[in-house]
Amino acid sequence: MAPMALGLILGWCLVAASRAWHVPQPSLLLHPSQGVSLGDTVTLQCHLPRLAAWVKFYQEGHLISYKYPGKEQDRAEFSLVDIKQEAAVRYWCQYELLYTARTSETSEPVELVVTDHRFSPPEISLSPEKYVETGTNITIRCWNQDYQGIFLLHKDGCSAPIQHQDPDGGGTATFTLFGVTPADNGSYRCSYRAKAYPLVSSPLGDRVILVVRPTHAPPDAGVPPRQPEAVQFQVPPGDSEGLTYAELHAVNAGPWLSGLPAAPQPAVIYAEVGTAGPH
Ligand SMILES: *[C@@H]1O[C@H](CO)[C@@H](O)[C@H](O)[C@H]1NC(C)=O
Ligand SMILES: *[C@@H]1O[C@H](CO)[C@@H](O)[C@H](O)[C@H]1NC(C)=O
Repeated sequence: MAPMALGLILGWCLVAASRAWHVPQPSLLLHPSQGVSLGDTVTLQCHLPRLAAWVKFYQEGHLISYKYPGKEQDRAEFSLVDIKQEAAVRYWCQYELLYTARTSETSEPVELVVTDHRFSPPEISLSPEKYVETGTNITIRCWNQDYQGIFLLHKDGCSAPIQHQDPDGGGTATFTLFGVTPADNGSYRCSYRAKAYPLVSSPLGDRVILVVRPTHAPPDAGVPPRQPEAVQFQVPPGDSEGLTYAELHAVNAGPWLSGLPAAPQPAVIYAEVGTAGPH
């Protein structure tokens, strides 16, 4: 009995010790976080869960600043001025507690996307047409004249691009929205990015607008409400950013329960799943 009791006590002590030694991760924010162009200034803001710490800022693995923000400060800042193409990379921060010299884990990395207005915005087309029925397959084509790269499809109101594609050897990307619903209603735009600098972006091009007519709910209550479904977007293999976007449609059960005509109430959540990139 004695060895087992000792083992239990040791185990508990180890857990308690590792918890006491854990230094929580900081978080890094960029200001502004979107719409940054060449020549702009961006401030990196490292938020500290503990006070009295030295803060390290990293640019894609290289230490770019090591500073002490002051004993009472729960954040440290570092500004990147006159942004160049080379600054369009990932950033993260870390802190070191003043009295114990214990170092935190690094923050989650944050990507700085920089718009280069020397690239002309891409062209866009939508087919078959602007007004469609629920269930139609929609094709959106994006192209540029003078340059090849990775094309991204943006939907207004979503912070992350909803699809991206690397049209091998051609300057045209073809995006498909399969079986659209009123949740796909909205305006869409494209941009493209240089392969050599995957976070340097062209300006956004013109909008195309899609209006999806809802199908009417059956008058009787015979149809069970649909469960929320997850749709995996097409992602081309060899994606340079290692990112996958999933669109989650939340479908509410209202019309079948109340007997009222179906009022479309789309709710869309885009989840961005990042995996190890090429860096
Ligand atoms: C949409 O595309 C899918 C996959 O190619 C196909 O199976 C389906 O029949 C298409 N739907 C319509 C309405 O064209
Ligand atoms: C779809 O978009 C059009 C134009 O943007 C808008 O007038 C309409 O209310 C939208 N419908 C739905 C169901 O969101």
